[in-house]
Amino acid sequence: MLKKKLMIQDFHRMKRDGEKISWITSYDYPTAQFAEASGMEMILVGDSLGMCVYGYESTVPVTMDQCIVHCEAVRRGAPNTFVMGDMPFMSYQKNDEDAVANAGRFLKESGMDAIKLEGGTRIISRIKAILDAGIVVCGHIGLTPQSSGQLGGHKAQGRTVESARLLLEDAFAIQEAGAQLLLLEAVPPEVAGFITEKLSIPVLSIGAGPLCDGQLLIISDLIGQFQAFTPKFVRKYADVAEIITGAMKEYIKDVKTVAFPAEEHCYHMIKGEEEKFKELIKEYN
Ligand code: KIV
Repeated sequence: MLKKKLMIQDFHRMKRDGEKISWITSYDYPTAQFAEASGMEMILVGDSLGMCVYGYESTVPVTMDQCIVHCEAVRRGAPNTFVMGDMPFMSYQKNDEDAVANAGRFLKESGMDAIKLEGGTRIISRIKAILDAGIVVCGHIGLTPQSSGQLGGHKAQGRTVESARLLLEDAFAIQEAGAQLLLLEAVPPEVAGFITEKLSIPVLSIGAGPLCDGQLLIISDLIGQFQAFTPKFVRKYADVAEIITGAMKEYIKDVKTVAFPAEEHCYHMIKGEEEKFKELIKEYN
């Protein structure tokens, strides 16, 4: 049976009904297929692909063209899932025109359902401009990796009253601007819970505790694929690094001992052709 694709109105209904929203990142076709088959409700093609797929040290080098290629693959793998494109560094920071043009590429070139961008009060005009183009927008505040330099590294935000006040201002400004979703990253649960209660739009968490309207995890963390570090907020549901390395070691052993390939992996000549082949090779002896 075809999965029913959820739209932004469904996520708003889920918030009203108290039904939690499940969300992961995905960067490729097969993982998107698994996500859709699992019943995942949302997918983010995050700029975390820079670290998880390309091996960069941060998300900063990721380009729009890279994001589009990965969004296209994910869309093909999950045609019936709400998929969001993540605006990479410098695709919206310069001006509203750039922001609208790049957000539009996610919809026109890779069929995304929404876009996400990092920042609060200082990017309100970008959010409004993208919304005016008819695009569904998700805000992202708290730990915003693209500006982690200004935050003093990948650090939780809102842990002091002053920092929490800034988060509240950002959250209310984003909803006021018209954004339909908000993501909080690495924020104390008491702050995230208050924001979730006060906002009418769904507030999702990555490292913002259980009181939000849903949870996001990076697929590479969830399955134990990303090796560089594991943030405090991650729960590993599988260890594919061990499974994949183990499988490769077995393969190497089988190649060395000629345990692979076996009879069932071989293509034999069509019946009757073997004799003719014996004749043929005589010409070469
Ligand atoms: O790029 C991404 O995956 C993200 C999450 C870290 C929220 O933006």
